[in-house]
Amino acid sequence: MEENLSAFLTEKEKIISDELVQKVKSLSIPSRLKDSMLYSIKAGGKRLRPLLMIASCESFHGTYQQVLSVSLALEMVHTYSLIHDDLPAMDDDHYRRGQPTNHRVFDEATAILAGDALLTYSFEAITDDPQLTNEQKVYIIKRLAKASGPKGMVAGQSLDMAAENREITLTELEEIHDLKTGELLTFALEIGAYIGGASIKQIAEIRKYAYYVGLIFQVQDDILDVSGDPEKIGKPIGSDESNMKSTYPKLLGLDGAIKKKEEYVDLAEAALIKADVKTNILKDFVQYLSLRDA
Ligand code: IPE
Ligand code: IPE
Ligand code: MG
Ligand code: MG
Ligand code: MG
Repeated sequence: MEENLSAFLTEKEKIISDELVQKVKSLSIPSRLKDSMLYSIKAGGKRLRPLLMIASCESFHGTYQQVLSVSLALEMVHTYSLIHDDLPAMDDDHYRRGQPTNHRVFDEATAILAGDALLTYSFEAITDDPQLTNEQKVYIIKRLAKASGPKGMVAGQSLDMAAENREITLTELEEIHDLKTGELLTFALEIGAYIGGASIKQIAEIRKYAYYVGLIFQVQDDILDVSGDPEKIGKPIGSDESNMKSTYPKLLGLDGAIKKKEEYVDLAEAALIKADVKTNILKDFVQYLSLRDA
């Protein structure tokens, strides 16, 4: 990995994780609910979405402090989506972020509520940020609601469930992945650029970049589900196969999936050149996401 990116990830990941734990810890709420929320928040994870938001903000004229609270809110939404994704009614997975899934440590009702709580608290956390103007808050909340809701991530999860046990086309698969994964990644990159002072034209290019980043991320997630190291990815492999999921390796074979990923990398890099960013960090991010083993 590029040295700059590696230093960026280490430094910012610590800030994000510390602040996130602090935010949830400070809540005066029922203790079992809090323990369950904290369990999944503390289990780690790569923090890719907040990191991408900060990287995007810094790629223009912004600082990480400007987007920190929004990036934490986004990580809460993502963590909620994982807790629900692992439930028996959905993917029925037993490990996440290297630890037993939330519903196995607590119980299904508590896991559902912890997810609900992280989702809704994320919106409150954005309204509490004194650095944002009211206009920015409304815009950001509208974008987050859209990216995570029935036109975004939830739609993708619904299509993903409906595509179990049947053959779909590459176009359908791209749509599922764009919604279930791409929408939150696009939110991260777009809001980072917006707060960082990017122009409307630059934001449009960042959205294109984000579309391909979402697909690269998800192709690699599918590849790792086939050939990853469970120790490194913190979740068991073979979950997609046993749930008869539609994935890139299933549709194109492992080599075909890798080739497709390389096409997306070229398209992401082309969009980034047009966005005319100040630093190399988003370019390095593409390589990192494409080749990640965790
Ligand atoms: C996993 O996301 C779920 C998908 C959207 C495919 P990540 O791989 O970013 O999970 P964590 O946050 O690092 O655990
Ligand atoms: C989950 O996708 C996407 C969301 C939670 C929105 P997957 O089901 O592929 O994620 P993993 O493989 O369980 O992490
Ligand atoms: Mg799933
Ligand atoms: Mg899953
Ligand atoms: Mg997966």
